[in-house]
Amino acid sequence: MDKRWWKESIVYQIYPRSFKDSDGDGIGDLNGITEKMDYLEKLGINVLWLSPVYKSPNDDNGYDISDYQDIMDEFGTMEDFDKMLSSAHEHGIKLVMDLVVNHTSDEHPWFIESRKSLENPYRDYYIWRPAKDGKEPNNWGSCFSGSAWQYDEKTDMYYLHLFSKKQPDLNWDNPKVRQEVFDMMNWWLDKGVDGFRMDVISLISKKPDLPDGPAGINGYASFNEPANGPHVHEYLQEMREKVLNNADTITVGECSGVTLEEAKKYARSDEKELNMVFQFEHMHVDADGSNKWTDKKMDLRDLKEILTRWQKGLEDIAWNSLFWENHDQPRSISRFGNDSKEYHNVSAKMLATCLHMMQGTPYVYQGQELGMTNAPFMSVKDFRDLDSINAYYELVEEQKVFTSEEMMRYLRAKSRDNARTPFQWDDSENAGFTTGTPWIMVNPNYTEINAKDQLGDPDSVFCYYQKLIKLRKEKDIIVYGNYDLLLPDSKEIYAYTRTLGEEKLLVVCNFYEKETEIEIPEEFRCGGYLISNYETKPVREKMTLRPYESFVIEK
Ligand code: GLC
Repeated sequence: MDKRWWKESIVYQIYPRSFKDSDGDGIGDLNGITEKMDYLEKLGINVLWLSPVYKSPNDDNGYDISDYQDIMDEFGTMEDFDKMLSSAHEHGIKLVMDLVVNHTSDEHPWFIESRKSLENPYRDYYIWRPAKDGKEPNNWGSCFSGSAWQYDEKTDMYYLHLFSKKQPDLNWDNPKVRQEVFDMMNWWLDKGVDGFRMDVISLISKKPDLPDGPAGINGYASFNEPANGPHVHEYLQEMREKVLNNADTITVGECSGVTLEEAKKYARSDEKELNMVFQFEHMHVDADGSNKWTDKKMDLRDLKEILTRWQKGLEDIAWNSLFWENHDQPRSISRFGNDSKEYHNVSAKMLATCLHMMQGTPYVYQGQELGMTNAPFMSVKDFRDLDSINAYYELVEEQKVFTSEEMMRYLRAKSRDNARTPFQWDDSENAGFTTGTPWIMVNPNYTEINAKDQLGDPDSVFCYYQKLIKLRKEKDIIVYGNYDLLLPDSKEIYAYTRTLGEEKLLVVCNFYEKETEIEIPEEFRCGGYLISNYETKPVREKMTLRPYESFVIEK
């Protein structure tokens, strides 16, 4: 397999709004990130992905961009950005920008022009359609509730917005749009950034006739309906030629609705498109069909089936990205582990082992390295995320699909705001995140879970992440070895091997509190431990796994 630096990297995602506030306005900022570069270097990560920092009216916290070449006021200035970028590079950390180009803000000058008249030169930068039988042009729903179409009186037409109505979709079939995007990307590369995480890039090419799709619980087709459209690969290949080949970049496409077959095209090792994709099948493992609003727990066998299919499916053909968390997902320890005091430490480490030993590039979302948990949101007023707020009003107040109590339970389990509470730096007021009033509630467990305590404790979740990251840098087998699942039918244990030439690793994870037994395959019985979340016991043919126990044995 071809060796590449981006396969050997560990990426850390920062949600700047919630990372570190340097000026006391309650909102994280660029100078806050620069302040914490030593912390990131200590953790050992070597790539930083920043959620959007561009000029934005913040309808969707920066994922609605009104100027791609300027910085959001709350986050600082372009000078602050340059300082942060050089500080990252001085610390040996590369910087990945979030590229949000499926849509812009409705306050972007292109859209302001586009909506003015049918003849405006920017009209065709967006997707406009007349009403069909007096209604929306099709049944597509927005990711954030309601229809994906907004009527605009000025020209008596609807525009498409797969996300909020303040995020109109760009028309990628227009070559001028593509050129604008490519020029902007080259501008950032010239500045010295090292790559792009491409927001919902699988949605950029829409079928020309925009056909209806199957309706979900709110009566609309999923926002994913246009995924993997007819020209998406052609447009990404064009981007590769006109932009990405100009530098030694790292690229990851957020590909909602991607299938394994499609992923093989997006992330093929001949590097004609992207280096890797984020697929979301394992994020739906605890959903109710296509409805994420439930607090159902997953069946471990489903998780293993999905991840194994991706591990084996992309082997030698393309490249995986590995993640349990990002800014759109709840905290993994509350979702797949156990966030009670008793098991917090071991279950956070178990989840880390399970993911970091797989083949692919691992992503750590801010606070995951401390085992930050979901937050105890009490009322709908505690939420800031438009997805959560809109879903509450649509499904409880308008359509009465759920009672308010049910929906609050589902929001506590799944709301994106769980990942967006401020980073817990220490046990001082507001977790050391800000001296002002934080824009969203601080999780009250910061007195027990915070970076300051964990940095000084060799047994902490942070130190365990440090070890995992170091191991990956030292051992090729962790990056390049082939993955094979063991015990597919076990409901409690996730076990797999990695193989590179003569070398072999055994990874064992007990996903639950209950003790359970495992038979260690013969070839590992004389092996030694690489890492473990408990004091290790001598390797035996039959071993009892303690609650959330996980370890890696080297043959
Ligand atoms: C992606 C982002 C999410 C955002 C959406 C619209 O899914 O990760 O946060 O709301 O795209 O840009």
